[in-house]
Amino acid sequence: MIRFIPPSEVLAIRNEVLREGRLTLEQCRFPGDQSEGSFHLGYFEQDKLICVASFHPKSYQDYHGIGYQLRGMATLENFRGKGRGNQLVNFAIVYLRGQKVNYVWCNARKKAIRFYQNIGFENISDEFEVPGVGPHHVLYLKIQ
Ligand SMILES: CC(C)(COP(=O)(O)OP(=O)(O)OC[C@H]1O[C@@H](n2cnc3c(N)ncnc32)[C@H](O)[C@@H]1OP(=O)(O)O)[C@@H](O)C(=O)NCCC(=O)NCCS
Repeated sequence: MIRFIPPSEVLAIRNEVLREGRLTLEQCRFPGDQSEGSFHLGYFEQDKLICVASFHPKSYQDYHGIGYQLRGMATLENFRGKGRGNQLVNFAIVYLRGQKVNYVWCNARKKAIRFYQNIGFENISDEFEVPGVGPHHVLYLKIQ
């Protein structure tokens, strides 16, 4: 089951999956987590939160229309490869379409690019390095 959740609920999975548990929960907050229009989704498997993603209103360069940035996409290791992440992002896309949002984009880790492409995102950048994390590309999905 997918639900809107408060930003505080995404922090533990962000830390475990995206920061190898190295940070405090407070350090896992992103600027924009609490901004107006931001929202956070969680996938619950029998009441256990197993997958999260956050969406912040933010345009990408000079792309036309209202843009949202997808951040903090993470599924607990034992629950990966079952389509949970795919369902979570598709839930967000339907919601964003209803909000008249034009596109969603993200800085995607190279390893996760296929995950986004399966959903329909396109790769729109050269490779760039995020210090301490590794190679990334910008992925973009037009919603309407
Ligand atoms: C990237 C990540 C969020 C994907 O989450 P997930 O819940 O495993 O995603 P899905 O199960 O929807 O898709 C993953 C794979 O499962 C496959 N899959 C299996 N069953 C599926 C189904 N029913 N529906 C869709 N995909 C399915 C997909 O083909 C996909 O394969 P691919 O990405 O190798 O092509 C997860 O691997 C993760 O947390 N990784 C570590 C952190 C990370 O890299 N986050 C992204 C930062 S940009």
